[in-house]
Amino acid sequence: MGKLVVKRVEVRGTTRIGCRTRMGYKAGSKSPAVREMKREGLGIQYHVTDGTNHFIAQGRLDDFRHISLEPSLHPNAVNQTFVDGPVLRRAQEVLEQVPQVRGRLQLVQKGAINFDGLSFSITPTDAMFKVTIPNGDVWPASALVPFDHIEISPAAGALNYGQQLFEGMKALNTPEGNVVLFRPKENAKRAIDGAKRLGLTSVPVDYFLNAVTRVVRANRRWIPPHGKGALYIRPLLIGSGPIVGVAPAPENTFMVFVTPVGPYFKGGLTAIDLIVSEKNHRAAPGGSGSVKAGGNYAPGMMPAKEAKAAGFAEVIYLDAQEHKYVEEVGAANFFCICGNTIHTPKLTGTILPGITRASVIQIARDLGYEVIEHERVPIDFVMQNATAAFCTGTAAVISPIGSITHGDIKKIFNNGEVDPTVRILYEALTAIQTQQAEDRHGWVFPVAI
Ligand code: PLP
Ligand code: COI
Repeated sequence: MGKLVVKRVEVRGTTRIGCRTRMGYKAGSKSPAVREMKREGLGIQYHVTDGTNHFIAQGRLDDFRHISLEPSLHPNAVNQTFVDGPVLRRAQEVLEQVPQVRGRLQLVQKGAINFDGLSFSITPTDAMFKVTIPNGDVWPASALVPFDHIEISPAAGALNYGQQLFEGMKALNTPEGNVVLFRPKENAKRAIDGAKRLGLTSVPVDYFLNAVTRVVRANRRWIPPHGKGALYIRPLLIGSGPIVGVAPAPENTFMVFVTPVGPYFKGGLTAIDLIVSEKNHRAAPGGSGSVKAGGNYAPGMMPAKEAKAAGFAEVIYLDAQEHKYVEEVGAANFFCICGNTIHTPKLTGTILPGITRASVIQIARDLGYEVIEHERVPIDFVMQNATAAFCTGTAAVISPIGSITHGDIKKIFNNGEVDPTVRILYEALTAIQTQQAEDRHGWVFPVAI
């Protein structure tokens, strides 16, 4: 076995002993906060991961005398960390007993997270939201748990028949030190539309927002500093109950986890090269293309992988009926520019109604551009007439397109450099998202940290 570098030790959770609050008050085991934490099953847990986030060891520690109490569970609680002192020493003692770790433990202090060079990848964080109910039941109040693997039946509807949807959002640190989300109610509403389409129990908007904000708060130390990335938020609604007939699972699970991320396309605001997929389509009329079903994404993986191997960042999908009209770019919406006019396909049922898309349309109009949502945007029109193109999404933000390859033809926009109009739109959107510009449409959603 090669040398193991333990990158991180996290001790998280709570004890039954009590906590110190801002008021200097020591909450005993009967305090509502501690009771709530017990009910949620938070204990003292340790997780050891190596450099590639592979779990080396995890377990429970039972005899701590301090607690890390999330303000979301108890508004007056001081957020204690396990940076030093008896708690960490005890963790070290226990971990040295774990065979895989013994003699190779390098403790990195909690709080010392390296946010440099973040990519769009998963890092385990502190807490997640998880609640399971019988299909059609009411979602219960509380469900914050440590980030961890979940247990699921091999017969779960989500695993067998893809009865599942997800959402994607970001929490950003603004230059002023606020933590903000962008139009999260729209994600909640889109998840409701998806739940209806996929036979899942809808999560009410307020419940969704409460879960998201609690998870963001509980993981606030993972939110990258302004300019270094975002805390990507991944709500998931899955048919978790066992079923072999093709029908809605008897039980649904709603989860929210988060991870710090950098740019979706390498290089941030640099122009990307795309290729039109000649043989695959993303969605067909009457299918599930307009909802965020996980099953929409697996068929895009090999086309995207092949495109990457050929030097492209992603694939452009055309319509499934005539293979003539642009629909989307992998996991982002498509726009092209001709002079002062911006063109994008209308939401006709096969395209995901992107929240960034809707925002960019509004921002462009506010800036005086004409934006036309066409029933159809022919790829030939793009190849012949467009002076610029870009794609939009939560992960992709606004990504300028440097070139499009369609069959034997490669169309290069602005010498492969970022188009000035695309830069203006990018700057306008990100300025609103980080409270650097007036939020005239009320899109920014501050999270009290
Ligand atoms: N289209 C697809 C297929 C997506 O997966 C996404 C990502 O969420 C988008 C478009 C952009 O949507 P939004 O701007 O809401 O993130
Ligand atoms: C997002 O932009 O949030 C997405 O969901 C894209 C994702 C598939 C990476």
